[in-house]
Amino acid sequence: MTKNFISSACKFLPIVFVFALVNLTSHAQEISKEASAIAAGESLFNANCKTCHRVHQKLIGPALANVYERAPSIDWIKSFIKNSAGVIAGGDEYANKLYNEFNKTQMTSFTTLKDEDIMNVLAYIQSETEKGPAVAAAPAPGSGPTSEEGGQQSAYLNVILIGMVLILVLLLVILAFLVSALKRFLDQKELSAEDKEVIHSPITIGTISRSSGFIFIVVFLVGALGFKAVINGLYSVGVQQGYAPKQPIAFSHKIHAGQYEIDCKYCHTGVMKGKSATIPSVNICMNCHNQIRQGTLTGESEIAKIVSAWDNKKPIEWVRIHNLPDLAYFNHSQHVNVGGLACQTCHGPIETMDVVRQHSLLTMGWCIDCHRKTDVNTKGNAYYDNLVELHNTASKTPMKVEDMGGLECAKCHY
Ligand code: HEC
Ligand code: HEC
Ligand code: HEC
Ligand code: HEC
Ligand code: HEC
Ligand code: HEC
Repeated sequence: MTKNFISSACKFLPIVFVFALVNLTSHAQEISKEASAIAAGESLFNANCKTCHRVHQKLIGPALANVYERAPSIDWIKSFIKNSAGVIAGGDEYANKLYNEFNKTQMTSFTTLKDEDIMNVLAYIQSETEKGPAVAAAPAPGSGPTSEEGGQQSAYLNVILIGMVLILVLLLVILAFLVSALKRFLDQKELSAEDKEVIHSPITIGTISRSSGFIFIVVFLVGALGFKAVINGLYSVGVQQGYAPKQPIAFSHKIHAGQYEIDCKYCHTGVMKGKSATIPSVNICMNCHNQIRQGTLTGESEIAKIVSAWDNKKPIEWVRIHNLPDLAYFNHSQHVNVGGLACQTCHGPIETMDVVRQHSLLTMGWCIDCHRKTDVNTKGNAYYDNLVELHNTASKTPMKVEDMGGLECAKCHY
């Protein structure tokens, strides 16, 4: 009897096992709804994907809302993120269609992301998808107040101003009614000739402009407008957001970094190792423009200017756009190499610009704001191990730049 039971149980065992396995794997594929997974996903998304993707908006890559339903499978998403070039080269139909749709823009391969990280990113995408598009998108970290926000704020101010003017006009009308009603009332009374004259003295521009109330209002308005202009002026002293000067050669990032996808570091050789990103010398241009020379025979094209600078051994005098005052210290390698930040976080979509323009404010508030918000990229960096351990004993939130001294005056000031 017991033997029989055991043998029939043994028959079922594999089935139970397979069932459990299926259950387990399908469970692992399920996108988490836990706040911790969503938060981890959000910071991964911001650090790695945000330059090209938004959840509800097409950017360099597609909007990612719902992608976990639209893509062939979760496994497909994992392998695409880890090695998109490989998936495309492997002839995957969905991937190739997408690749062509996006003008053969290569998505970065994220070989260091683990499956678990990708599931967290998907958790974040799912939670954002379910929230639906925000009415006013939160500003990207480090982008500072955007001009859109400023526009919205001043739109509100305008509405309030118009409202106030309307109320003033209404008050004036009511006052006029009161005055005429009073006059009629007083006319019915027996009054002395003197009093009658006072009542019927005409209201002219002269009498209004001499009245103390009117003078007060004018002085107040002029004062207030002047004050606002001075404050606005003070805030923008030295701020050059949007500055886009004409350059001696019409060099286009849209053609070089966008269309031909030349790596930023190929020309800005300093970014990984030093303080300054550096502007390329004529040599670097000539690596390619030795061959690409259309228009140089007639001497009229922009490229002819490169060749002539090369022949005359004269440097091209590029106009500097980003420029911090001497009192501040900013280091590119710290941010790009150690911090793992994309150029676009601070410089905006340079690869779409024919003429470079200053995207960020570059004020102290801008630096500090990002240091308060941004998690330090500590992965695979043994230098941070002790710091992170120390931080985690005191706090549950991920370590921000602030927590390792990113707000200390001496770190940014000589
Ligand atoms: C350099 C820009 C860039 C970055 C960075 C980037 N992507 Fe992409 N991504 C693209 C482009 C472009 C496509 C469209 C396919 C193509 O052209 O290869 C794409 C496609 C995708 C797709 C498929 C979308 C669909 O509609 O099926 C997913 C999923 C995806 N990306 C996820 C990510 C995640 C997650 C990250 C961050 C870890 C990331 N991407 C970072 C550019 C980028
Ligand atoms: C083919 C060479 C080349 C490539 C590739 C290139 N740049 Fe440039 N970059 C230049 C030159 C030349 C200038 C100076 C002229 C100008 O401002 O347009 C410049 C200027 C800049 C400036 C403004 C510098 C200043 O004066 O403040 C920024 C920021 C910048 N590049 C960022 C980038 C980023 C980000 C990428 C990659 C997406 C990139 N560049 C790719 C050649 C290049
Ligand atoms: C890696 C190769 C490469 C490098 C380096 C490079 N270019 Fe180019 N450049 C190109 C290509 C490709 C074109 C497009 C030619 C075409 O449209 O036929 C181009 C076009 C141009 C044009 C003409 C744009 C137009 O409107 O047609 C100018 C000007 C130019 N480059 C300036 C520069 C300068 C200045 C540098 C150095 C800072 C530089 N390039 C470095 C590859 C390069
Ligand atoms: C954390 C923000 C940040 C990131 C990320 C960043 N930059 Fe900059 N960049 C700046 C600031 C701030 C300046 C002005 C520096 C100064 O005046 O000393 C600047 C200046 C520049 C300049 C002008 C020359 C110079 O070095 O002063 C170039 C070119 C440049 N950046 C290119 C790049 C490229 C290419 C990348 C990506 C590989 C990049 N930057 C990433 C903030 C950033
Ligand atoms: C987009 C976000 C961002 C912006 C904007 C930014 N930083 Fe940073 N900064 C970082 C990150 C991330 C690190 C940490 C890098 C690392 O892992 O060491 C950092 C580190 C630093 C450090 C080293 C801090 C330390 O304790 O070792 C200095 C100094 C610094 N930044 C200066 C500046 C200055 C000056 C500006 C403004 C001109 C600026 N940063 C703007 C993100 C930013
Ligand atoms: C993350 C980097 C960073 C830190 C930390 C920082 N500063 Fe600054 N500071 C800057 C930058 C960048 C500027 C230049 C801003 C500009 O040109 O508008 C600046 C400008 C200033 C100025 C000049 C006034 C002005 O607005 O131009 C003073 C004064 C100053 N900082 C004081 C301090 C003091 C005091 C501290 C410590 C409490 C401090 N800073 C911490 C980056 C920093």
